[in-house]
Amino acid sequence: PLVSMTEMLKKANAEGYAVGQFNLNNLEFTQAILQAAQEENSPVILGVSEGAARYMGGFKTVVAMVKALMEDYSITVPVAIHLDHGSSFESCAKAIHAGFTSVMIDASHHPFEENIETTTKVVELAHFHGVSVEAELGVVGGQEDDVVAEGVIYADPNECEELVKRTGIDCLAPALGSVHGPYKGEPNLGFKEMEEINNRAGVPLVLHGGTGIPTHDIQKAISFGTAKINVNTENQIASAKAVRETLAAKPEEYDPRKYLGPARDAIKATVIGKMREFGSSNKA
Ligand code: G3H
Ligand code: ZN
Repeated sequence: PLVSMTEMLKKANAEGYAVGQFNLNNLEFTQAILQAAQEENSPVILGVSEGAARYMGGFKTVVAMVKALMEDYSITVPVAIHLDHGSSFESCAKAIHAGFTSVMIDASHHPFEENIETTTKVVELAHFHGVSVEAELGVVGGQEDDVVAEGVIYADPNECEELVKRTGIDCLAPALGSVHGPYKGEPNLGFKEMEEINNRAGVPLVLHGGTGIPTHDIQKAISFGTAKINVNTENQIASAKAVRETLAAKPEEYDPRKYLGPARDAIKATVIGKMREFGSSNKA
C-alpha cells in the first residue's frame, strides 16, 4: 500500500535497519525499484526531486504512474512517494495535493528561525493530510539537480533538538559530512554528532548522499538512529553503464526497450543489493 514514512521509520529504528530512499528519474527507475521492493519483501521510499518531477511531467504524473504500477505489479509492501529536497512551502503543498505521501522541506540554507517557520507551516498542512515531513539542518555537499552546495556544514545538535521540538517533523536529516554524488575518497561522517543528535532529537534520522558510503559506516549510522538512507547516483551510474555496454555491443540497435530494459535490470540489482545492505529485506 501507499503510506507515509512515519510508521516505516519508527519500525526501522526499533528493529535496527534502514529503509532506502531510491530516487525516480523515469518509468524504468520506478519499475525497477518497485519490483526490487516486492521481491525483497522490503518497505521502500520513492524519492522524487523537483527536477525529476519536472522531467517526468509533474507531481500528478508521478503519482499516477506509481499508483498504476503498484496495481499492475500487485505491490503489497509499504511504499511512500516522497518529495526530495522540497524548496518551498508552495512546492510541498503542490506535492501533497497531488497525492505524495511524504515531503522533505529543505530550508536548511535559510536562517534558522526562517527554517523553523517554513517547516512548521509544511508540517501543519502535511499532518492534516496524513503526510510525513522530513527537514534538514546543515549542508550536504556536492550537487543533486537544483541543490548545489559549495562546501559541507555540519548540523548543530542544539538546533536539531530545537527544530524537532518546535516543528513536530517526523524525521530529521542532519548533514554530517555526506555528499550528493560520488565521494572524493572515503566519506568522513560525524558519528559523534550523529550519536548526540540521535539522543536529543527523538525522531528517526536520515542520511543523504548514500552513494559510496562503505558498509561499516552504514551499519554505524543505523546504530546511531539512522532509519532512512537516500540513494540516487549509484542507480544512475548502474543504468548508464548498462545502456553504454548494450549500445557499444550493438551499435545498430534503436529500440529503446532493448537498451532501457538492461538499464532497468541493472537498477533493480543495485536496489536489491542496497536493501540487503540496509537490512530492510523481509521487513515489509
Ligand atoms: O536526496 C537524495 C540523495 O541524498 C542521493 O544522494 O545521489 O549521492 O546517492 P546520492
Ligand atoms: Zn539528498
